[in-house]
Amino acid sequence: MYNVHRMVNLPKSVRIVEVGPRDGLQNEAKTVATDKKAEFIRLLAAAGLKDIEVASFVHPKWVPQLADAAELIRMLEPVAGVRYSALVPNMKGLDRAIETGIRRIAVFTAASETFNRKNINMGVQESIEVFRPVVERALKEGISVRGYVSTCFVCPYEGAVAKEKVAEVVKALFDLGVDEVSIGDTIGAATPKDVETTGGHLLQQFPAGKLAMHFHDTYGMAVANVYQSLQMGFTTFDSSAGGLGGCPYAPGASGNLATEDLLYLMERLGIETGASLKLVRLASHFISGELDRQLPSRVLQTS
Ligand code: HMG
Ligand code: MG
Repeated sequence: MYNVHRMVNLPKSVRIVEVGPRDGLQNEAKTVATDKKAEFIRLLAAAGLKDIEVASFVHPKWVPQLADAAELIRMLEPVAGVRYSALVPNMKGLDRAIETGIRRIAVFTAASETFNRKNINMGVQESIEVFRPVVERALKEGISVRGYVSTCFVCPYEGAVAKEKVAEVVKALFDLGVDEVSIGDTIGAATPKDVETTGGHLLQQFPAGKLAMHFHDTYGMAVANVYQSLQMGFTTFDSSAGGLGGCPYAPGASGNLATEDLLYLMERLGIETGASLKLVRLASHFISGELDRQLPSRVLQTS
């Protein structure tokens, strides 16, 4: 019989990395005007989100929706306690990032070769070598660096990905000097069982506090995967307002875990986030109006 008194160890608080303005808007058919992006980010910061990934310095031809990264970052007002960040794939991207004065960047690679080639036109080891001087220079400039590993569970081209391969790439990123690695379920195919297997393997080698879980919600598993992660000790989650997003180089990838869905779960579990569900909804309604489409977040749709 199930023991209703079984204690589940859940954390008292979690950290949210809001990726809507980057992971979200990079995959929308409509490009949002720069000043509207800035307003969206202002609303997200006003909602209490402290880590906001706002843009990326990738090739503008690869992701035209984010080609205005420099102009956008210059428009953002500093907000006490709020950290803005942007993706950087190589030294050219870092040059562009440094010019804007941004204080945090993220380098990104994958656990599967085919996806990485399609996404950044490099092999996995090759990308680590490209990042080495990028991370070194960023840190010298006082810019902190996050790392991403995509396709940690399933690759859209190669299928299931081995947990050992994920751990190898995570280690390579930490060895470069990144302070946190985000574990990407790029096409939203993972289930709690996969999170237990791969996440459990990672926790044998790396502290939970240095790993973030980055779920997409293609199969509606993102919230279940968060609950699984919480029970394992993970306390950092990437999400996007309204459930915007996807990856243009991962066929079948839909939006990220919605920030509203994450916040609803945290509120009901009594876990602090520092963010207001009501105010995130406002930001999502705003960007939904700009995109002229209904966003997929289930919680957002209830209001
Ligand atoms: P490439 O064509 O191999 O680049 O693209 P290259 O190094 O051969 O250079 C070709 C030309 O591009 C050169 O110009 C460079 O200067 C220029 P030319 O000399 O011919 O005039 N160039 C650049 N221009 C501006 N900014 C740059 C830059 N780099 C080179 N940074 C590259 C390689 C990495 C640039 C390209 O593949 C690219 O931009 N890819 C980005 C793809 C992307 O943004 N994907 C989505 C983000 S990842 C994601 O969403 C997953 C994540 O959310 C986690 C998850 O869910 O799993 C993070
Ligand atoms: Mg993503």
